[in-house]
Amino acid sequence: MTSGEHADEGEAPDGGERPAERTLRPRRLADFPGQERIKDVLGIAIEAAAARGEPLDHHLFYGPPGLGKTTLAHILAAELEAPIRTTSGPAVERPGDLAAILTNLKEGEVLFVDEVHRLSRAVEEILYPAMEDFAIDLVIGKGPGARSIRLALPPFTLIGATTRYAMISAPLRDRFGSIYRLDFYEEEALTAIVRRSATLLGVELAAEAAVEIARRSRGTPRVANRILRRVRDYAEVRAGGPATLAATRAAIDLLEVDALGLDEIDRRLLRSLVGQFGGGPAGLETIAAAISEEPDTVVDVYEPFLLTCGLLRRTPRGRVATPAAWRHLGLEPPPGAQGDLWREAAPTRTPPEALAADG
Ligand SMILES: Nc1ncnc2c1ncn2[C@@H]1O[C@H](COP(=O)(O)OP(=O)(O)OP(=O)(O)O)[C@@H](O)[C@H]1O
Ligand SMILES: [Mg+2]
Repeated sequence: MTSGEHADEGEAPDGGERPAERTLRPRRLADFPGQERIKDVLGIAIEAAAARGEPLDHHLFYGPPGLGKTTLAHILAAELEAPIRTTSGPAVERPGDLAAILTNLKEGEVLFVDEVHRLSRAVEEILYPAMEDFAIDLVIGKGPGARSIRLALPPFTLIGATTRYAMISAPLRDRFGSIYRLDFYEEEALTAIVRRSATLLGVELAAEAAVEIARRSRGTPRVANRILRRVRDYAEVRAGGPATLAATRAAIDLLEVDALGLDEIDRRLLRSLVGQFGGGPAGLETIAAAISEEPDTVVDVYEPFLLTCGLLRRTPRGRVATPAAWRHLGLEPPPGAQGDLWREAAPTRTPPEALAADG
């Protein structure tokens, strides 16, 4: 995960979770609101694997940060009653590191590789036979006497997670039996998540307040939980206890999160596109530089939701602010803004290529 405002509360810098996230993370499929289709399919896959006494197929989860990829990986292991080992693409530096992890797996164990798109090619090559045949090929000795031996591994399940589907190499992608794209959450599911978290945190939250938090959380459980904590603080300090709708709105306004759930950086991105580049098209690097963020952060963290809201479009010539973006900023779109590039209807859901494309 790259840096950025939206990314900060998920994982501590050392890669470990913060205690607050740990207590809110659902443990079982039944406690996981939203992503209904994915849950259905996973439930069937788990039951079928258990009935056959085989390990579950390798799974890949992709989608924007904070939607539950890591959570689902842990839930899968819990539902399979299997131990889980966690690592990440950048943490596995050499092929030997991965070989050591693989040869130490127990039968049926789940190996979770976060940021799986960041595995190096040499490391990936160890994974291919491991995923396909539960085996690794080791080269013993050097020079003319070197020979390759095949070492059998216990059957295991690999779960990969990534925010960058397009950066996963085709051979790796093809070896996952199931691939799931996580979508931004609907208001109803997010409301359920906020209510659940409020109960766990002991926050007395008005029913309309839960809906308000859901509406302003960019379709993202992690953001919803973060806003809920700030609402709790505000209600305790300023409003003397229960989080009413008024206290919730006031707390969210203090965070500079607007009615659509956009925060200051989202708006800065749109303002710079509109103000500095006449609405675009402008290239990714240019926009990132204008708002002092890394291009990767713009692609991973900010753009997916702006695309989903229909405020931003990607064209072959660069990013374009839609007329809706101008209006959201309180500006009248110029007549040219209705031109060819912008005529297409804005997507209501992020298409995979929007999440995946880099340029
Ligand atoms: N469906 C859900 N129900 C309840 N809480 C959820 C759900 N999905 C995610 N969360 C909460 O949001 C937090 C972030 O989820 P998670 O860490 O699984 O996201 P991620 O997709 O792995 O993000 P990243 O790409 O940043 O690693 C979790 O700690 C969890 O508490
Ligand atoms: Mg994660």
